[in-house]
Amino acid sequence: MSRATFWKCPYVYLKWTFSYWDRKGFPSTGVSIPFGALESVAKGKRSFGMAIYDMYQSTKEPVIGMYLTLRPALLIRDAQLAHNVLVKDFASFHDRGIYVDEKNDPMSASLFQLQGASWRALRIKLTPSFTSGKLKAMFATSDSVGDKLVASMKAQLPETGSKELELKKLMATYAIDIIATTIFGLDIDSFADPNNEFQAISKKLNRKHFEDIIRGAASFLFPGLEKFFVQIGWKQEATERMRRLSHRTVDLREENNIERKDLLQLLLQLRNQGKINTDDSVWSAESTKNGVKSMSKDVIAGQLLLFYIAGYETTASTAAFTLYELTQNPEVMEKAKEDVRRAIEKHGGKLTYDAISDMKYLEACVLETARKYPALPLLNRICTQDYPVPHSKLVIRKGTPVIISVIGMHRDAEYFPDPLSYQPERYLEDNKNFNQAAYMPFGEGPRMCIGARMGKVNVKIAIAKVLSNFDLEIRKEKSEIEFGVNGVPLMPKSGVPVRLSLKK
Ligand code: HEM
Repeated sequence: MSRATFWKCPYVYLKWTFSYWDRKGFPSTGVSIPFGALESVAKGKRSFGMAIYDMYQSTKEPVIGMYLTLRPALLIRDAQLAHNVLVKDFASFHDRGIYVDEKNDPMSASLFQLQGASWRALRIKLTPSFTSGKLKAMFATSDSVGDKLVASMKAQLPETGSKELELKKLMATYAIDIIATTIFGLDIDSFADPNNEFQAISKKLNRKHFEDIIRGAASFLFPGLEKFFVQIGWKQEATERMRRLSHRTVDLREENNIERKDLLQLLLQLRNQGKINTDDSVWSAESTKNGVKSMSKDVIAGQLLLFYIAGYETTASTAAFTLYELTQNPEVMEKAKEDVRRAIEKHGGKLTYDAISDMKYLEACVLETARKYPALPLLNRICTQDYPVPHSKLVIRKGTPVIISVIGMHRDAEYFPDPLSYQPERYLEDNKNFNQAAYMPFGEGPRMCIGARMGKVNVKIAIAKVLSNFDLEIRKEKSEIEFGVNGVPLMPKSGVPVRLSLKK
């Protein structure tokens, strides 16, 4: 082969790859070689979710082809089409198409990653874990973590006058302890002991070293490559430590017959009894199957790790962003405070699960935060059977990744009037002023977030406690939070500063 021909090969390959959508008859965007839509991510200027948001804003097409490096993917911009993909035509888009290897890597067999019949079977089994009865039973644990949050904030504030606190970090500590206690069943207090084992693992899980970025990108974009990494034994330290921690906790529980009201207990029920009891008062996990285990310790560890990843950043950011918006919208703040005060009074002066459920205006605030700042700014599916796009001649081929920019739709004036303004009223009866198909902060359809209720309760606990114990200073000038460039969840670039004082 001549030198000229040698250099021509990659050029021809790239040209061929980056003309995929032209050949399929789809319009396309983000065609720059070799990173495509992810050029700004590769240059460290945008996070993945915000790069996809840029693609959303670059066009008005209802569906558009783009390139996630060498991988062609479709971006759905039309809310009704997105709804069809997630709900009505779920049969053609039931998987996420990300890395999973049930046989060789049981920890990867998490609800988020599993596919087809395996996913459906596990989803049915896990659903009884998230009923309001189960959450009510776990409430006391979350409530006491909320008290520790308040105590830590009080300790940082002066007796008189106000001080600015960085709320994202505080809410992150709160969310980590909520997960450690109500999901993993650990007895920790990260406010008092910020260097405990769970925090240490958490820091490792959230760091963004080159190898973490490679593994994250491979899991999402090139699952076959991630499978290869796992097969050659390239272990991720944080995942490994999480696995050992959850094994230890399972052994401790089983050997000593310990019964606690947390998600791990329910996973142990599933392991030892084949199902999670639908009677919310039954928490025993003693074997009813002569010691036969229907779920391995690794698969349990995989679910726990997923619940951590799914619940941590989402809960922390939603709580912090809500408080930030309240300080920019004095009328909303007053209504939220009044809602919290009234609900607590109605329930005997106590912050109970029922009081939290009664805080309808606060709920609307959380829903509005989840719109303006969707913790997961995009949803993804893979096409599982050829799908003709309604009212067009286009066909989405089996195996095509499909992306929905949640932040794109949530901040699109076509779907939400005045999208940057914070209006919890949108969600109150008779007031709905938006296209409901475009609202999907917890996803949509059979694969929507299984922990949405739990997430909302924990966010509301944190906000209700802060509003009951502190006065938050109104910001003189409104400003929009800038987002960071790392990871998939929507994170503030430099924290969420709020000035507050002890309640007079
Ligand atoms: C404010 C808090 C939360 C937000 C905004 C949130 C958001 C989301 C979103 C957008 C998805 C993707 C849904 C889709 O693809 O249609 C998801 C999936 C999921 N979430 Fe959440 N989440 C939150 C809290 C939680 C919590 C606390 C847990 C668990 C304890 C959890 C567990 C999961 C799981 C297991 C899935 C995958 C479901 C499946 O594929 O069947 N989430 N979440």
